[in-house]
Amino acid sequence: MRKIFYFSFIILLFLSMHLFAQTPRLSTQLGDYKSHQITDNELSIAAENAMLKIYLYQDDIIRIRAVKNAFKNDHSFAVIQKPMGKFKEFTETAEMLTLKTQKLIIQIKKKPIRISFLNNSGIELNSDDADFGITWQGNEVTCYKKLFKDEKFIGLGEKTGPLNRRSMSYENWNSDVPAYSLDKDPLYATIPFYMGIHQNSVYGLFFDNSFKSNFVFGASTDETMMSFGAVDGEMNYYFMGSGSVSEVIKSYTWLCGRAQLPPKWSLGFQQCRWSYYPDKEVLNLAKTFREKKFPCDVIYLDIHHMNNYKVFTFHPEYFPEPAELINELKQMGFHVVVIVDPGLKVEEGYTAYDQGVKNNYFIKYPNGKEYTGDVWPGRSHFTDYTNPKAREWWGTLFDAYTKNGVEGFWNDMNEPAVWGQKIPDLLEMDFEGNKSTIREGHNIFGMQMSRGTFDGTKKLMNNKRPLVITRATYAGGQRFSTIWTGDNAANDDHMLLGVRLVNSLGISGFPFAGPDVGGFIGEPSSELLTRWYTLGAFTPFYRCHSAYGERYREPWTLNKDLQDIVRKYINLRYEMLPYLYSTAFQSTQTGMPMSRTLAIQYPFDEKIYQNDFQNQFMFGDYFLVAPAKSTQDVLKIYLPEGSWYRYSSDEKFSGNYTDYFPSPLNDLPVFVKEGAIIPMQNTVQYSQEENDGWLYVHVYNGGSKTSFSMYEDDGISYDFEKSVSCTRNIEFDAIKKSISFSKQEGKFVSKFKNLKIILHGFEKIAKVKLGSIEIVPANLENKQIIETEYKNEAFSMILFKE
Ligand code: GLC
Repeated sequence: MRKIFYFSFIILLFLSMHLFAQTPRLSTQLGDYKSHQITDNELSIAAENAMLKIYLYQDDIIRIRAVKNAFKNDHSFAVIQKPMGKFKEFTETAEMLTLKTQKLIIQIKKKPIRISFLNNSGIELNSDDADFGITWQGNEVTCYKKLFKDEKFIGLGEKTGPLNRRSMSYENWNSDVPAYSLDKDPLYATIPFYMGIHQNSVYGLFFDNSFKSNFVFGASTDETMMSFGAVDGEMNYYFMGSGSVSEVIKSYTWLCGRAQLPPKWSLGFQQCRWSYYPDKEVLNLAKTFREKKFPCDVIYLDIHHMNNYKVFTFHPEYFPEPAELINELKQMGFHVVVIVDPGLKVEEGYTAYDQGVKNNYFIKYPNGKEYTGDVWPGRSHFTDYTNPKAREWWGTLFDAYTKNGVEGFWNDMNEPAVWGQKIPDLLEMDFEGNKSTIREGHNIFGMQMSRGTFDGTKKLMNNKRPLVITRATYAGGQRFSTIWTGDNAANDDHMLLGVRLVNSLGISGFPFAGPDVGGFIGEPSSELLTRWYTLGAFTPFYRCHSAYGERYREPWTLNKDLQDIVRKYINLRYEMLPYLYSTAFQSTQTGMPMSRTLAIQYPFDEKIYQNDFQNQFMFGDYFLVAPAKSTQDVLKIYLPEGSWYRYSSDEKFSGNYTDYFPSPLNDLPVFVKEGAIIPMQNTVQYSQEENDGWLYVHVYNGGSKTSFSMYEDDGISYDFEKSVSCTRNIEFDAIKKSISFSKQEGKFVSKFKNLKIILHGFEKIAKVKLGSIEIVPANLENKQIIETEYKNEAFSMILFKE
């Protein structure tokens, strides 16, 4: 009996070993370490099944690259930096290789290869999952990471879902998704960059791979690991271990570039509709804005401006004299933006088509035949924007618009969208000489279109700043264009989703973004439209838009009471211009967005991620906005640490505090942070209109030292690049009770001649000493006001209590 048992056991063992040996491996991992080579900033490792490279970009930015076969030419549309500097230390033991920089420790376990990132205090920030690490299935590559118990995830750009993306999964494939649902994924843009937040530490991770990619933040993995991967291409990611959310944003935007300083007029209110036509309607619209005193800077011409939807043309009947029209609008202080679609009509005699065919600028099948897809103009060809020559040519076509005075270019349908949606995978693209298929080119198509548009219009506009807007983009696209969140819908939840999309874009490199105010598709109720207009005043890109066939929704379509509310908020938007423009400038310097999820400043405060509070955001350094639905007269709001003043009443609240606050349509819940310094101006009808020469600096009492960097320039040209700008630091020291203005730096002469400081939350001030001068503040309602000249030189004042 015993013998039979042993015999059958051996047979079974043999059979199972045999079977095991026969079963092909269904996936491949990096495998064990074999050998390495190291230079100042590059460690190359040969592993059992793959090759690995680790590069130093900065002391807190490390790049990981892994391939199964040979590395291809290193090419990226997103990253604008190169490896630099020197690893501080490299050590090897039997188990591990260790790299050190000034800020990070990178541990590479040898058997099998697994990578960990620690900060220089030895705290683990991020590690490969112990079981899988980097894995391939065919060409598909995935990196599995350890999931920390308390780990939260933010970012990934234009993605639906909650602020904290834990337990969610996402795909990146730029898509045309009209009236997208609240949980639709993917939308129009691909920004494969996220931040992990756990145990008081923050890191960033950018997966630079433009094939269809996916991110799984713990969903469906038993909450043990997270992963990111793509259907093809390299495992190629950048780890950023800078320490705080704002520092990670700074690192990421250093790596992929920062947004351009937008023309100041694009911070004003913008009116759009599909479509305003003919020319008389456009003129009428402009006149009504001025008559009814709703400030506005921009009017959009949607697809009806074209002749048969042919891009770079004007409709001969609707817009017979575009230059005259645009000039007349300009006299009234309006700037004109036109829509530009990538699909060029297949029609002999149409210049853009003829030139594109002649020069081989269109995307083609492998047999050299141009790809034809159906979109607005019917049968169309599509420019290969990854071909530098084609991109440059595309830029020159804008002459048709710039010569008529157009200053803004709205890049639409560039996912790319075609009727029927599915574009054949085998189409080929130049990829800047690295030829690839549209599988790799799809997600960067929109970004490269906006690049061609920006470079071309900048050249054509004689030192003036163009406004470029795009619907689709890829990481780094902020260098060329701002973004709007596509075809949203007219309902309250969509309005709140828009806030999250803009805030998520903000931490993903796009500081200047916005949804269509009013909701593009559908009919907003009057209340919703009103609320959206008021919330829009606190949105970086403030544009009202509506789809073809929807009711008109300009501010005057509302009843008188609601119009007054809308006017009050658009006026406020224009009053905020000095603050807003300084904030936009700040974005170009640090990558910090204008609209900021509370996760930037309060990442470790659990409450800010809760459903009730996740839509709250800071607008610039000092405003906290709590978006309320149009149906909510009362809103549950969380005020984080510190003290806060309700903007509309100056009522003060201590933070770490949750309560129900009134949120009627005429009083959007906006709070101001203690210590705030907010420069404002009087309202104007358009951004370039001369203001009254007074700078109104609102100072809110606080407990420590605060500051604000005020920036000015001409708002339209690139002269600021030659220091024709002026910057000054305004500081408030709550302990010393002093307010000081540093000297104005730069060659631009400030537009402000006089200064009013408006004190909020201060005890009664008896006098203010400004050098040897003593001023007695004036009283206005419950505020005290100090008036003086707005000097170029440094000056400061001390406040004396009664
Ligand atoms: C797309 C755009 C929309 C535009 C319409 C017509 O749907 O997203 O904003 O109005 O096309 O051009």
